[in-house]
Amino acid sequence: MTEKVAVIGLGYVGLTLACALASRCFQVTGLDVDEEKLEKIRRGTPPIYEEGLEPLLNHVLKLGALKVTSDYQEAVRESEACFICVGTPSNPDGSVDLRYVEETARMLGKALKDKPGYYLVVVRSTVPPGTTRNLVRRILEEESGRSIGDFGLCFNPEFLREGKALEDTFNPDRIVIGCVDRESGEKLLVIYRKFYGDKLPPTLITTLVNAELIKYVSNAFLATKISFINMVSQLCQALPGADVKVVAEGMGMDKRIGREFLAAGLGWGGSCFPKDALGLLRFGEELGVQLPIVEAAIKVNESQIEHTVKLAEELIGDLGGKLVAVLGLAFKPGTDDIRESRSIRLVEKLLERGARVRVHDPKAIENARKVLGERVSYAGSIEECMRGAELCILATEWPQYRRINAETLKRLMKTPALLDGRRLYKPEEFREIKFKAIGLGDSNQEP
Ligand code: UGA
Repeated sequence: MTEKVAVIGLGYVGLTLACALASRCFQVTGLDVDEEKLEKIRRGTPPIYEEGLEPLLNHVLKLGALKVTSDYQEAVRESEACFICVGTPSNPDGSVDLRYVEETARMLGKALKDKPGYYLVVVRSTVPPGTTRNLVRRILEEESGRSIGDFGLCFNPEFLREGKALEDTFNPDRIVIGCVDRESGEKLLVIYRKFYGDKLPPTLITTLVNAELIKYVSNAFLATKISFINMVSQLCQALPGADVKVVAEGMGMDKRIGREFLAAGLGWGGSCFPKDALGLLRFGEELGVQLPIVEAAIKVNESQIEHTVKLAEELIGDLGGKLVAVLGLAFKPGTDDIRESRSIRLVEKLLERGARVRVHDPKAIENARKVLGERVSYAGSIEECMRGAELCILATEWPQYRRINAETLKRLMKTPALLDGRRLYKPEEFREIKFKAIGLGDSNQEP
């Protein structure tokens, strides 16, 4: 069936999906309530920075395969299936705020009233288990006066990494389809067969609730894996001769453990892991189930910042009044996103200790300014960031920081001291030229 689809919510998940589908024979209507965002998209400028998205957006606009609107009636009229990709932010207590999903279901339900024939609704926003059946289905049925069978309903999680969203859309490890009934699942499979052709990724078809849970626990597991190695990193720091980088390499050689997500550092941030870990914890509480491993993963993640500040003090003593240069503000390289960025958290802690902070980032300065304001100074280049600094902390491992030359830093800085929070450098190369340098998780001492 479906060649005409709608994508609701044009954030990094929705816009990526909309462009990807439009590039492969689908006629896509993108919907968002933010007119300013729509205007940018119409002009071919993605409202967020995502590798490869701008040329793809322009390509599909030129093809006439993507149009955008804020009108639900139009989006539903112009499609036979829709993907809900609206945000699910956190409430102050960490539980999930479902108001955008609710509103979308309401608007869709109203539009479905007059829609002839079968229509498939696919929830792609991350929602707590039970939400698709208990909330989305109920609202759709109430508002449309129709029931399952007239329309289909799936939960189909996204597993996209920011910065690699297109790559992950075109080549995912797996597709998980949770469906309310068989027909819904089969209809979504038709869409994916059409999209992937004979390269359909391994696909799991299951119930709505299993699919919803798979999304949450996958993120919680990955966050736990990072926290595990960060816990080991704190152990290594205290153990003469130990280096977490080597330990992680040795662990990862076991196929059952795997090398990925074992990079020790300041911890995990971004719009997903922190929100989903807390969301899962609150969800467990509601069911009366404790999730102590998730709790511990969050605790270790928080402790990495204090641990890093202590190392900074080990290097240059009391931070009061000292100029600290921080390289990298984005929550990871390749994005301008600073949501829950560990680097921003670190800057806040340094300021609390009385340090003067100067920051640099290739993409995230504008966003960082909204949060940090005039409390820090902003450098347009790495050199400018380093000039006169008493300590340099590498907080986000942008590839361009790899090229930093120790000799140049030494010349620019007031006192040559480096704290590598993402293990980008070989501290011994710095130490060779009498640079005080510590790598997170590297004890830097003879056994
Ligand atoms: C994450 C997941 O990787 C995606 O699979 C998922 O779809 C997405 O969340 C989501 O739920 O939408 P993302 O938040 O873009 O993707 O970022 P990651 O690349 O997973 O990194 C998350 C954080 O972990 C970053 O702060 C990164 O610096 C940190 N990290 C990652 C480490 O500290 N060490 C590692 O080894 C890997």
